[in-house]
Amino acid sequence: MTGSYDIPAMPDGFVWGAATAAYQIEGAVAEDGRGPSIWDTFCRRPGAVADGSSGEVACDSYHRWCDDVDLLDGLGVDAYRFSVAWPRVLPTGHGTVNKPGLEYYDRLVDALCEKGIRPFVTLYHWDLPQALEDVGGWRVRDTAEHFADYATVVAERLGDRVHDWITLNEPYVSSMVGYAEGRHAPGATEGHGALAAAHHLLVGHGLTVRALRAVQPGARVGITLNLSPAVPAGDAEADRAAADRMDLMLNRQFTDPVLGGSYPDGFERLYAGVSDLSFRRDGDLALIGAPLDFLGVNYYYRIHAADAPYEQPDPALRSAFDIGVRSATRAGVPVTDLGWPIEPHGLYETLTGLAGRFPGLPPIYVTENGVAQLREEPGADPERIRFIAEHLAAAARSGVDLRGYFYWSLLDNFEWARGYGPRFGLVHVDYPTGERTPRASYHWLRERLARRTPIG
Ligand code: NOJ
Repeated sequence: MTGSYDIPAMPDGFVWGAATAAYQIEGAVAEDGRGPSIWDTFCRRPGAVADGSSGEVACDSYHRWCDDVDLLDGLGVDAYRFSVAWPRVLPTGHGTVNKPGLEYYDRLVDALCEKGIRPFVTLYHWDLPQALEDVGGWRVRDTAEHFADYATVVAERLGDRVHDWITLNEPYVSSMVGYAEGRHAPGATEGHGALAAAHHLLVGHGLTVRALRAVQPGARVGITLNLSPAVPAGDAEADRAAADRMDLMLNRQFTDPVLGGSYPDGFERLYAGVSDLSFRRDGDLALIGAPLDFLGVNYYYRIHAADAPYEQPDPALRSAFDIGVRSATRAGVPVTDLGWPIEPHGLYETLTGLAGRFPGLPPIYVTENGVAQLREEPGADPERIRFIAEHLAAAARSGVDLRGYFYWSLLDNFEWARGYGPRFGLVHVDYPTGERTPRASYHWLRERLARRTPIG
């Protein structure tokens, strides 16, 4: 059945890849001088992670990285997107460099280059050193400065072989889910704090773009944003307004400063009463909006937004942010095991929407797209094959300057607050033994990549 699905022909030079992130796969959290991160701390909080697990062992990639490189090689991808763990390199976030931590990535990059696999390095995929959180985390501007210094250390070491850098992964999630909703580390529920975190993450991005270009003039630098078209769940005007509020908070709060150098219209209004935005400084937007070499887009689903007036009467129990929107399911739209709507067309809308709104849009990479199953077994995963094929077709149809596609994820791994239940991998991981078993989707993609014929 899956034989009928194919990958589209893409232009010459199109980058096919797979992605992971440090805390989700490495394990070895206390080895070779790594300092604790906010996720180590958060996972110990009772109830924070669905199955009470943590990234302590995960896929044990800190020890099994050679196997992972072999899997990538066997798959025939052009590139591997992985992240560097800040607390491995700088255990307290700044100051003395932890040599063994940096050496781990040095070996990994060497092994990738030997096999002709291009490394795409994410510098921040959510594992802030705990020591920095203890003095304010992303709520304070110092963290942005430390981030750029850390990026400099990494680029000085790896920059002779790594040419593609992603500053931040999904700053929406780091700030809003981590500091306002409290569902992710550091588990805060603050209004002003979350908006300050969002802004300082973007300042950190801007400073890092500058720092990377100073260290490595030929560096290609981008940022990865999670983008979800927000569409009204119903015909009512109130739902249309709800979709607009959702789009503002989730998408435009990040796309507009990064790609257009300004916060979107309605931003101050949306957050009136939550924060006075006093953390903004003159010159920040010019820094944040400096031209990029590419934009990374993570696409998983569309949001069907319904107007939902907030009804929690006890202000003490109110989450820090409530913009009065509920994400609804829609009859006839299939969902994944996680309940996420499957709508490949949403990727088309995301890409064409960006091109329509930002005339100087840089080239795009889909830096994540994938589907989870809750089943355990390693075998057949026809829904994944179909998911990949249909999303690729939608991306190809968009006509934007798309330079690559990274499937999330190479391996089953630690899915943050959901623990180990959701399995996103092309490769099944048996957590007790660490054994890796490629799924049918891996073999399907390998075959298609082996006989691809680029256009032009
Ligand atoms: C986005 C995140 O970057 C990644 O860490 C996560 O596992 C996937 N989405 C799936 O939820």
